Order: sequence, then structure tokens, then C-alpha cells
Amino acid sequence: MFLGMFRTTFFLVSICCCSFYWCHGCLEEERTLLLQIKDSINYPGGSSLGEYWVGKNCCQWYGVDCNPSSFRVISIDLYDVREEGLGLWYPNTSLFAPFKELKELDLGGNHIGGWVMPQAFSGMRSLRKLYLFSNNLSASIDSLRGICELTTLRVLYLDENRLNDHSIPKCFGNLSLLEELSLSGNELKGNLPAFPEMQSLRMLDISSNNLSLGIDSLRGLCGLRNIRNLDLSYTNLDERAFLRLCLSNLSKLETLSLLDNDLGSYSIALTGICELTALRVLDLSWNKINDHSIPKCWGNLSSLEKLDLWDNKLKSPFNSLTANNSYVGSIPQCFGNMNSLRRLSLSYNQFTGTIPSSIFQNLTNLMVISTSHNQFNDSISFSTFANLSKLIHIDLSDNARLEVETEHPHWVPTFQLQSLFLSNCILNKGGGSGIPTFISIQQSLETLDLSHNFLKGTIPSWLLNNLTVGSLILGGNLLKGPFPQSTQRNNSMLQELDVSDNFIYGELPSNINTLFPNLIVFNMSKNELQGTIPVSISKLQKLGMLDLSQNNLFGEMPHGLISRNNTSLKFLRLSNNKLQGNILPKFPNMTKLVVLLLDNNGFTGAIASNMLSSPSLKILDLSKNNLSGFIPSWLPLLTNLAILHLDGNFFNGPIPSEVCQMQNLHILDLSNNKISGSIPSCLPNISSWMKEISINVDIFHPRVTTILTTKGMTLTYEGLPLSLMTIIDLSMNQLTGNIPSQMGDLKALHSLNLSNNILSGPIPESFQNLESIESLDLSHNKIVGTIPPQMVQLYKLSIFNVSFNNLSGAIPYEKQFSTFKESSYTANPHLCGPPLQRSCSCNNSSQPRDNKGEEEEEDDSTILDSPLFFFTCGWLLHIFWDFGVSLPFSPTSTGDGSSLVQWTGALIAAI
Ligand SMILES: *[C@@H]1O[C@H](CO)[C@@H](O)[C@H](O)[C@H]1NC(C)=O
Ligand SMILES: *[C@@H]1O[C@H](CO)[C@@H](O)[C@H](O)[C@H]1NC(C)=O
Ligand SMILES: *[C@@H]1O[C@H](CO)[C@@H](O)[C@H](O)[C@H]1NC(C)=O
Ligand SMILES: *[C@@H]1O[C@H](CO)[C@@H](O)[C@H](O)[C@H]1NC(C)=O
Ligand SMILES: *[C@@H]1O[C@H](CO)[C@@H](O)[C@H](O)[C@H]1NC(C)=O
Ligand SMILES: *[C@@H]1O[C@H](CO)[C@@H](O)[C@H](O)[C@H]1NC(C)=O
Ligand SMILES: *[C@@H]1O[C@H](CO)[C@@H](O)[C@H](O)[C@H]1NC(C)=O
Ligand SMILES: *[C@@H]1O[C@H](CO)[C@@H](O)[C@H](O)[C@H]1NC(C)=O
Repeated sequence: MFLGMFRTTFFLVSICCCSFYWCHGCLEEERTLLLQIKDSINYPGGSSLGEYWVGKNCCQWYGVDCNPSSFRVISIDLYDVREEGLGLWYPNTSLFAPFKELKELDLGGNHIGGWVMPQAFSGMRSLRKLYLFSNNLSASIDSLRGICELTTLRVLYLDENRLNDHSIPKCFGNLSLLEELSLSGNELKGNLPAFPEMQSLRMLDISSNNLSLGIDSLRGLCGLRNIRNLDLSYTNLDERAFLRLCLSNLSKLETLSLLDNDLGSYSIALTGICELTALRVLDLSWNKINDHSIPKCWGNLSSLEKLDLWDNKLKSPFNSLTANNSYVGSIPQCFGNMNSLRRLSLSYNQFTGTIPSSIFQNLTNLMVISTSHNQFNDSISFSTFANLSKLIHIDLSDNARLEVETEHPHWVPTFQLQSLFLSNCILNKGGGSGIPTFISIQQSLETLDLSHNFLKGTIPSWLLNNLTVGSLILGGNLLKGPFPQSTQRNNSMLQELDVSDNFIYGELPSNINTLFPNLIVFNMSKNELQGTIPVSISKLQKLGMLDLSQNNLFGEMPHGLISRNNTSLKFLRLSNNKLQGNILPKFPNMTKLVVLLLDNNGFTGAIASNMLSSPSLKILDLSKNNLSGFIPSWLPLLTNLAILHLDGNFFNGPIPSEVCQMQNLHILDLSNNKISGSIPSCLPNISSWMKEISINVDIFHPRVTTILTTKGMTLTYEGLPLSLMTIIDLSMNQLTGNIPSQMGDLKALHSLNLSNNILSGPIPESFQNLESIESLDLSHNKIVGTIPPQMVQLYKLSIFNVSFNNLSGAIPYEKQFSTFKESSYTANPHLCGPPLQRSCSCNNSSQPRDNKGEEEEEDDSTILDSPLFFFTCGWLLHIFWDFGVSLPFSPTSTGDGSSLVQWTGALIAAI
């Protein structure tokens, strides 16, 4: 990519800029040197620069920069040019030394293990910046000794070189002009080198080393009295080691990064930070800090602009103030005095109680307030923020018991926000749960998230029409009324509009394409919309995601939506409406479509051969419509299809053997149709059912689309663990013949439902190999023979049903099978042994008739209760919307088998 980027720039440069000095070219002697360097890189093989380092003017070569007046080379970028597999590279230093004006040299990523003629470094009197990250400089101690000669060096990057405590030679102290040194990502352990000579050092990065061994590991830093920026993140640092860092010497420190260490247990370690009176940025995220470890004296950090305490164990430091507790810091005062603070981020902690209003009084420089993902449970009024005129970002989201009041007492904002996140709190409970009115005078607002509150009332039309908002999220509220009528303005910036899960009724505006020409994400699912889908929706050129499911929409789907003119669509869900007509247009062009969900409507007709030219399609759900005709044999053209639901229609004819060519199928649901013929024996050709392979369903997560819109066009995708969901459901059809014994090879299959067909012959013995199977339903067929006893080892099996068949012999009642009840076996007159009452002694044929009736009854109710019922009812699974992704297939799981349901629920939730 680096080269690719270069190439573009390069051509631009050479086409448009051949004027003035560029055409003079470089000095011939430097050009010759560069060619020698090129030849030495992969010596004796050719270099990857062969393509780029050609022509007379070496100042135009990739990675080469020249001084515009002297035409001498000032910078050489040789990042990642050495071919892998050639072993270590020992560049000949004397090839670089003659460049009299060379200031900057990048040799990163080249497997450099040392140097030929390191003494030549002493000739490089101009070099200021040397980048050597991602090499193998730990290979020999001499490799770094040569660098000591570079006494003019200002910037040195030695990241990721596997350097250890002994790799860094004493003579490094000679680099007395060094300002920036990075040793990040090495193997430094006990003792950091001490270089009191480095008095120019401003920036030192030691992050991502493991300093947990050396109590004295930070001692070496005590002499760095001029240091401004110190990064000790990800170093396994504990308090003892941190205490040895003589912070009082480092009084000029402005930025201290201590992410992901172990500094949280005692306040004594963090007390040292109080000496850093010049500190502007302090990052202590991921340190297990609790209320008691925050020292009082932090209040003196009057220069602090940014304090990050992400993901610690803070609970209620604010409350502890009022508790007047001698050992607990008075946090409110302390924060309140930091009047340079620009960013207060307390997200992802366990704060409870109140956000104290008083602390904000003096924080007039605050730009960012973020307290999301805590457990604040009191109330806060926005009037608190009224005078913080620099605020641009407020995020109080996910404090489910925090009451946020924006209307009372009366206040006038002095700020103009860019983003406001108030998702999942309790908004304006006292004032009628209305949309905050101050928003109407926010003229720079780009992102507004008010989802999952209890907002009532209608959507004010100014919210859609006169704001600059690009992303508007109102989902999961109690908003009523028609879709707001537009005012005249039609230059709306809206890219994402999510009003899902409310009570919006009436029709969508017929001119939606002119109202919101920039829409990328449009989610109106779970409302009470009526009427037809406006044709104009298909003219939204940028639309990527459309969800109008669970409304009362009727009429035909506008065919332009997935035809030639609209190729941007990736996700289309129109499920659970009353749509009719042919399911797909004649000339679809859905090259980008990944998810198509049209289930639970009244679509009719057959699926014709030219209907789906959607190579990207991964999920197709046409279930519960009135479709008819054959199951199409061209399905394998959808090479990426992972989930196929055609259940609940009137499809007839056989299952085409072409289905076996689908290599990524994880769910095949053809249940509840009129399909006849036998089960194709080639099903195990589908590799996703043979071994678990995972597929990324790369569609964006609607919840992530905020990023999508706020960051311009960078799409964010989310992968799904489809590898754990392999399901075949052919139940409720008219299938005949034997169950193919090859099906025993479906090693990754989790659920197989063949119930309610006319299948005959035995249960294949090979079923003992279905090692992943969790649910197996063969009930209501004409299956004969015994239950293969080896099947008792299928220890993941938690739902097993062979009732209403013609099986005979003893039930294998051990291991996993000892968990199945009578109802699994009902109505097989010749089965015997536990759990049935019927014993296996010779004369067992006369069971009392009424007893059997009872069993039947019990059986029916079991079917209704079991998750299998939900499978056959397909997307009823929506009710499991909120299940998280939990580990479903526990070996000990017995009984209810809810885990599969959770998986599918998680899948849908993730969509
Ligand atoms: C260089 O070091 C990397 C790891 O840092 C190692 O994987 C690689 O094998 C080394 N290369 C050589 C040529 O020794
Ligand atoms: C290094 O390069 C110099 C200058 O081209 C040359 O004289 C010398 O022989 C080279 N050394 C080695 C070991 O290749
Ligand atoms: C570099 O350091 C070494 C030992 O630390 C010293 O002997 C030598 O004189 C120094 N060189 C220069 C150029 O300062
Ligand atoms: C850091 O070093 C300690 C002590 O050698 C060791 O126990 C620990 O596993 C190391 N941590 C990491 C992340 O390598
Ligand atoms: C705000 O600053 C004033 C004057 O410096 C001070 O008296 C007051 O206590 C401060 N308020 C808070 C809440 O820190
Ligand atoms: C939006 O409309 C409201 C009501 O008409 C008006 O008071 C407000 O100033 C407008 N805001 C913007 C940003 O245009
Ligand atoms: C699609 O584009 C064609 C021309 O390329 C145009 O004639 C037709 O009206 C467009 N259809 C829709 C639904 O926009
Ligand atoms: C579908 O759209 C793509 C991209 O716009 C275009 O290249 C292709 O020719 C179209 N195919 C059909 C059948 O219209």
C-alpha cells in the first residue's frame, strides 16, 4: 500500500511539476550511491526498488527528497524494502555517509541485524532523524554501538527490535542532543538505562515492555529533567516501581501516559503525580483505580487539560466527598479547581450516585464531557453546563437510571455542540419526556443520539428539517404521530436516520429522495407505518441500509430499490409487512447486497432464473410468503450465501442436487413447503457442514453506523461467528426414501430437523459421527429399525425426538441418552426399555391404550414448548433479539436446548 500510495503521488509529481528545480535532477555522485544502495538491499538479488529507482533525476525517486536549492539528497525512505526470507541484513554504512545533507533516514522493517563498517556513521554529520523500528537490532550489541557516533541525532526510533536491558550500550549517553527516543515494544525488563547526559530529551516512549520484574526499573529516568512527554503504557508497572520514579525531578512533564498498568490499589503511588504541576494530559485508563486510590492533592493539578480514567473501578468518589471521609479524596473540589481541564472522560467505570453540578462551575475550558457507561442514578440538569461555552461534545449515555433534565430550570446554552449522546438514560421525566428544546438552537450539531429513552410526543419538524445533523438516532422511544411533514428546505445533511421502535404512523413522505438526498442508513422498523413504500426511496443514490420491517406497509416493493439504478444497497429488510406482488423485479442489480430479508409478507410467484445477480449476498430470507414453483437450481451462483430461509411457502418439486455445490451455507431452511422426492445424498459436499469454517457477514451494524456517518465514508463492519450455526431444517414437507447414510459425515452440523415427512428406512448408523449435533428431530416419519446404540456418545445432543415412527428394540439408555424423557420416543409401538414404561421382556406388546393417549398429549405440549418449534417457525426468533452472544454448546447442557436459539437471536441482533 505504501508503494501504491507513492506511485500515485509520483506520477502526479512527474506529470505536473516538471518545472523549476525538479528538472535539474540530482547530483550524479549521489545518484550513483543510491543505485549502489539499491543493489545492496537484496544482494545479489534485484531490489523491489527496481521499478522506482530509475531515470536520471533521483530527486523524483520513491522515498528520496532533495534540497531544492542544492539538489542534494536530504531524506531517504527505505521502509520495508528488504525481501523477507533473505535473513538478516547488514547495510554498509559507508554507502550512506557521503550524503552531505542527509537529515532523515528511514530503515524500518528491514531485518537489519547490524552494520558493515559502523564507524562510517561518524561521517553522517547532518543526520537528525533515524528510524529503525521493526528490525532485528538485538542480534548483536554492536548494532547499536555504531549509532553512538551519530552525535547530531535528534530523533531515534528503535521500536520492536526485541531489545533487552543489555542491548543498549553505555555510549548512548553520547547522543546528548537527542530529543525523541522510542523504545516501545521491546523486551526491556528490569532496569532502564540511565542517561543523565540526555538533557535535551523531551519525549521518551517505553510503552509495551514488561517492567514488572524490576523494582528499580524507572530509576534511570530520574535524571531526565527536561522531559515533557513520557509514555509508560502497557508495561505491567506496579505501585512499587512507580514510586521509585522520582517524579519531583520531572517537573516539566506535560504528558504522562500510564494506560493499562497496575497502579490502582493505593493512593500513595498516585500521590506522586501531584508534583507534576505542568501536567496537561494524564491517562490512567485501565489501571484498576478505585475511589480510595485517587489522592486529594490532584486538585492542585491546575494545568491539567485532559484526564482519562477509562475503565477503572471508580464507583462514587463524588459521594465520598460529602461523606467527609478523611482518607478519601475530595474529588469534587479537586476536579473543580482544574480550570484548564478541556476534556473530562469518566466513561466505562462503575460510578454511582450523583454527577455533582458544583464541580462544573469553574471548568470553563471544558470541551468534552463524557460520563457514559456508568451507574449514576441521581439526576442532572443541563442548566449546569449553561456557561461552559467551549463545550462541543456531551455524552451521558448508558446510565440507565440517571434522570437528565434539559428544560428546568430555565437556561440558555452558551455552547454550540457538535455531538450529543443521551442514549439510554431517563430524559426529561419531569417535563413530559419531550425532545430537549435547546437542540433547536444548536447550529453545529452533527450527531444526535436520543435513543432508548422514554421520549414521548411527536418528532418536531425542525429536528429533521433545519438542523445540520448528519446522524439522528431516536430509536427505542415512545414517539407517536405521523412522519414529520417537511418544510421547504431540502438540503438536509442527514446520512443516518433511525426512528425504529416507536409509534410513528401514516405514510412515508413521497418525496423522500429530495428531502434527504444524502441518506445512507434509514431505519423505520417497528413502527406503525401504513401505505406503500414510496418509489422515490429507490432514487436515494447513497442508500446502503434500509429497514422498514414490522410495519403495516402494503403494495409492491418499488422495483428500482434493487434494480440497475441502485447498486449501493447492502442491507434491505422489509420483513413483517403486508407487501404483495412478485418478490423480485425482472432485472435486479444488487451487486453490493449482503442481506435481503423479505419474510413474513404476501409475496407471490416463483423465483425465476435471472432474479438474483447478487454475488455478495450472504443472508436471504424469503420465508412465510406465498411463493411457489421449484427450489431454484442456480442457487450455487450465490457463492457467498450463508443463510437461506425459504420455509413457509408453497415450493414443490425435489431438492435440487445443485444445492450441494454451495460451499458457505450454514443454515438451510426449506421447512413447511410441499417439497417431495428424496434427500440428496451429496449434502456432505457442503464444506461448511463438514468442518467449522467461519464467514464474516460484512455488513455494517446499524448501531455502528454513527461511526460510518461521522467519519465520512469509512464503513465499519462486524463479523459474525457463523461457524457455530449450522442448521438443516427440511421438516413439514413430503420427502420420501431413506435418510442418506452420508449425512453422518456432517460433522459441524448443530441442528437437523427432518420431522413430519414420509421418510422410511433406518436411522443411519453413521449418525454416531454427528459430533456437533445439539438437536435432532426425526419425529413423525416412517422410520424403522433400532436406535444405533453408539449414538449415546453424542454428548452435545440435548434435543432428541424420534416419536411417531416405527422404531423397535431397546432404547440405549445411558450417557447423553439418559437425559431424554419418554416424550422423545412416543408412539413407536416396538420400542422398549427406560424411559418408557414398556420393559424389554419378550411379551410387551400389550400396552394399555389409555396410557398411550396420555403420552401423545404430553408429546404435543413438548413440541410447542421446545425451541425446535421456533426453528420451524423461522424468524419468530426475533423475540430473542436481546440475547447476548453467550457460549451455547456446553457439553453438559441438557434439556431445554435454548442455546441454539440464543445463537440465532444473537445473529439477528448483530444484523
Ligand atoms: C527478526 O526478528 C523477528 C522477530 O522480531 C523474527 O521473526 C525473524 O525471524 C528475525 N529475522 C531474522 C532474519 O533473524
Ligand atoms: C562498503 O562500501 C564501501 C564504499 O562503497 C566500500 O569501499 C567497502 O568495500 C564496502 N564494504 C563492504 C564490506 O562491502
Ligand atoms: C562516547 O562515549 C564514550 C563512553 O561513554 C566515550 O569514551 C566517548 O568519548 C564518547 N564519544 C564522544 C564523541 O563523545
Ligand atoms: C511480565 O513478566 C512477568 C515476570 O517475568 C511475567 O510473569 C509476566 O507473564 C509477563 N507479562 C507479560 C504480559 O509478558
Ligand atoms: C471556583 O473558583 C472560585 C474562585 O477561585 C472558588 O472560590 C470556588 O470555590 C470554586 N468553586 C469550585 C466548585 O471549585
Ligand atoms: C430551527 O427551527 C426552530 C423553530 O422554527 C427555530 O427556533 C430555530 O432557530 C431553528 N434552528 C436552526 C438551527 O435553524
Ligand atoms: C434508472 O435509470 C434509467 C436510465 O439509466 C432511467 O431511465 C430510469 O428512469 C431510472 N429508474 C429509476 C427507477 O430511477
Ligand atoms: C449492474 O450494476 C453494475 C454497477 O453499476 C454494472 O456494472 C452492471 O453492468 C449492472 N448489471 C446489469 C445487469 O444491469
